[in-house]
Amino acid sequence: MDWIVEDRGEIEVWTLNGEARRNSITCAALRQLLDELHRAAEARRLRCVVLTGAGQRAFCAGADLKERARMSEAEVHAFHADLRAALRSIETSPKVFVAALNGAALGGGLELALACDLRVMSSAAELGLPEVSLGIIPGGGGTQRLARAIGVARAKDLVLTARRIDVAEALAYGLVTRAAPPELLRQVALETAAEVARNAPVSLRQAKRAIDGGLHLPMEEALDLENRLYQDCLGTKDRLEALRAFAEKRSPSFTGE
Ligand code: COA
Repeated sequence: MDWIVEDRGEIEVWTLNGEARRNSITCAALRQLLDELHRAAEARRLRCVVLTGAGQRAFCAGADLKERARMSEAEVHAFHADLRAALRSIETSPKVFVAALNGAALGGGLELALACDLRVMSSAAELGLPEVSLGIIPGGGGTQRLARAIGVARAKDLVLTARRIDVAEALAYGLVTRAAPPELLRQVALETAAEVARNAPVSLRQAKRAIDGGLHLPMEEALDLENRLYQDCLGTKDRLEALRAFAEKRSPSFTGE
């Protein structure tokens, strides 16, 4: 099993299971990730996925460079296309993804985290896009998603130097929004996921679309997009349930309808 999938009801934890190779991504791991993403998009009960890595050394050390050395050029192209598709599928998924950065997230590992909606980080972890030191550039969306997440100047500082940053810098940049000591990271990630998962599923999906879709539109178009996505929520049973729950002074019970 390249990913261990733990079903906790409205939350699932997907753990990259390759500690000995620092959870670097093999072709098989990528195929399973695509399958799980396909399943998750249709899973009615699921609201939030926590992505993490086995052990405390690495979240994901990028592509498996040993496997890569044995691959033909055509296989490398296919891997790259699959990686891009998987990361886009996370980004556009109706579910919310939380990256729990239990250890180093480098290259494709950081790109995987950047495709997620939220990032929490172990205080012992380090992050970086070292591709230019390896004769390539970030090709899994890293140049684009990092610049959008932390701004052009900081993204160039990281990408062009290939340097790695610690938790203090990652927090200061807003690259991660929560941090925890290694032994508490899973708990903090699960609490974060629970805070997300208690909300209305349609609202979560539409809010994610509004933020991601509107970010680079002119303001008028962005506000129109938000309005369309807002209108979609008005017809849901969950909105009425939230109003009833408020009047009855209880927590709402959302169904996603
Ligand atoms: N692909 C394949 N194997 C990898 C790997 C990768 N991307 N990253 C690490 N490994 C392997 C090492 O080769 C080593 O294998 P070995 O035991 O057979 O020698 C094993 O994982 C442990 O690596 P090590 O460097 O000793 O672990 P560490 O805990 O001290 O450091 C990292 C972990 C992730 C910080 C470090 O391995 C690293 O910097 N890896 C390279 C990351 C990288 O540049 N990725 C490519 C981005 S494009």
